[in-house]
Amino acid sequence: MGLVAASEYVVTHPQPSHNINNLSFFALKRELLSFYPFICNSPFFQAPGSHYLIKSLAQFIREDKSDFMDDHQFRQLLYLFGFSWKGYRKVRKGVKKRIGRHMKALGCRNMATYLAELDKHDEVRQHCELLLTVSISRFFRDRGFWETLEKKLLPDLIEKNKPRIKVWTAGCACGEEVYSFKIVWDSLQKNFAYLPELEVIATDMNPAHLDRARTGIYPSSSLKEVKEEYQSIYFIRAGKKLYAVKDSLGKDISWETHHLLSDPPGSDFDIIFLRNSVLTYYEDQLKKEAFKKVLDSLTPNGLLIIGSHEELPFETTDLTAIAPHPYVFRKEPKQ
Ligand SMILES: C[S@@+](CC[C@H](N)C(=O)[O-])C[C@H]1O[C@@H](n2cnc3c(N)ncnc32)[C@H](O)[C@@H]1O
Repeated sequence: MGLVAASEYVVTHPQPSHNINNLSFFALKRELLSFYPFICNSPFFQAPGSHYLIKSLAQFIREDKSDFMDDHQFRQLLYLFGFSWKGYRKVRKGVKKRIGRHMKALGCRNMATYLAELDKHDEVRQHCELLLTVSISRFFRDRGFWETLEKKLLPDLIEKNKPRIKVWTAGCACGEEVYSFKIVWDSLQKNFAYLPELEVIATDMNPAHLDRARTGIYPSSSLKEVKEEYQSIYFIRAGKKLYAVKDSLGKDISWETHHLLSDPPGSDFDIIFLRNSVLTYYEDQLKKEAFKKVLDSLTPNGLLIIGSHEELPFETTDLTAIAPHPYVFRKEPKQ
């Protein structure tokens, strides 16, 4: 394979398993990097149409040099935990920085020694798993869904006259989704003479995320999808570009540390949010395991909401998508 083809191959294949020109993929990458100045100056690469390749190589070099570990090593780490490269690809920069700091603190100069440490010490491994969690979220993420929840799904549920509604937000990060739900629920009071008792269980495997959720303080960027009307009713200023949710929203929420591969924190939930956590960041087998547990804890006719870019990890006749949102499902009652 010539230089052009090899460069093309490197920038378009994140991690092929086979060798090229008798070099491992990563040896080839290094080889190309050492050639970079030559590549840029070569008349061949200055020809029209070669810009894409040069730009990609430059991008690759920046990414490779700016981090403590390269993508191959990062993928080794993800693999150890059963996490998916596809899920982490876009957010890897920040995660790699955290892991780099952890490696440094442990005195690990390369991934091999770090992996050995993880293997030896459970607590190091557990800490690493927490560092790999991603807390990106915002209030009313997927705005259209929240409109449907407020106008249709919750009114239908309330009209069933159940004495109590149980909601689980699983992988709730720093609470944006939980408080969004509480805002919608609270705003329904004006339309109904009576609302059922509400129980919200908000869980995350990362206790630091839950601590932030309990404080209820957020940067203004997290509120960009909150209607103005709701901003004035449910938030107060808490500093420069910071907002705090009103204390009343914290009522009826139980914050619990919980790992989605362990038994669910309850059963017969009427609504479960499982958005942008295991279905994005886990490999197939773990997705399936976690998802099965979640599905079992949903009550018949209950609602399951996954992320708008996520898919169910297996086909099932237990769930029916509710239009217009293909990521909102109702659990079919058993015949
Ligand atoms: C990107 S945030 C999503 C927050 C919110 N659900 C949303 O959609 O905006 C993912 C959260 O899931 C949590 N998480 C990831 N894997 C988990 C697991 N196995 N068990 C529990 N929580 C998990 C992470 O700690 C993180 O706080």
